[in-house]
Amino acid sequence: MEKINKFTSKIYRIYYYLFKDRFSKKLNLKFDNIKRWDLIDYLNTTYKFNSYLEIGCDDDQLFSKISIKEKIGVDPVSGGNYRAKSEDFFDKNLKKFDLVFIDGLHEYHQVKKDILNSIKFLNKEGFILVHDCLPRSISAQAVPRFRNIWNGDVWKAIVELRTYPNLEIFTCLADEGISIIQVKKNSQILKIEKNIADLKFKDYYYNYRDYMRVINFSEIKKKYI
Ligand SMILES: C[S@@+](CC[C@H](N)C(=O)[O-])C[C@H]1O[C@@H](n2cnc3c(N)ncnc32)[C@H](O)[C@@H]1O
Repeated sequence: MEKINKFTSKIYRIYYYLFKDRFSKKLNLKFDNIKRWDLIDYLNTTYKFNSYLEIGCDDDQLFSKISIKEKIGVDPVSGGNYRAKSEDFFDKNLKKFDLVFIDGLHEYHQVKKDILNSIKFLNKEGFILVHDCLPRSISAQAVPRFRNIWNGDVWKAIVELRTYPNLEIFTCLADEGISIIQVKKNSQILKIEKNIADLKFKDYYYNYRDYMRVINFSEIKKKYI
């Protein structure tokens, strides 16, 4: 993934703390020792996927481990097998997928677009997984980005979609937080008064369990069997 240079990092850090948000507490998240490919393997063993789409592939850390018959990996810079930004891919795409893994540009509006586009091309009973949903600190989720290790504000897209009545979403406490989205009745609709774009890290810090509907891998195994 592209490295951020020291000068840009400093400027963006100052800008973020002066004009966007400040909060010093960090979440002490105890992630399960499960990686994104383990979760995919688990779901694939149960649901037997035939087609896979990955948005954002980098060095194929995940894409190369996917053994699903038909796979497309979209990235404008590296990895995968389709060189484009996600939106350009979706504009031309005609295929449908059983599983989509979203890990492209980690910014709220883009992630929301990627999820809504993926829903259009998802087979019935399909799954969408979204990476980097549980940042620990304000700097890990700041946009514009000023750190190399970065989750972005993917969490805001998940919070917004948790308010939709037709999307069932849980977030697995593993590998930086992986949200699992299915198009079906939302059994616990999130009620939120604030405008999503105005949410601050402090809101997430105090409410992340409820916002994201966080569950452990052991609970996933009971739900998706
Ligand atoms: C975090 S990396 C992906 C890591 C990979 N999925 C894995 O599991 O290891 C993010 C990737 O998203 C790509 N990217 C950035 N903007 C994108 C966009 N608009 N559409 C698709 N990919 C994008 C970057 O080029 C980068 O390779």
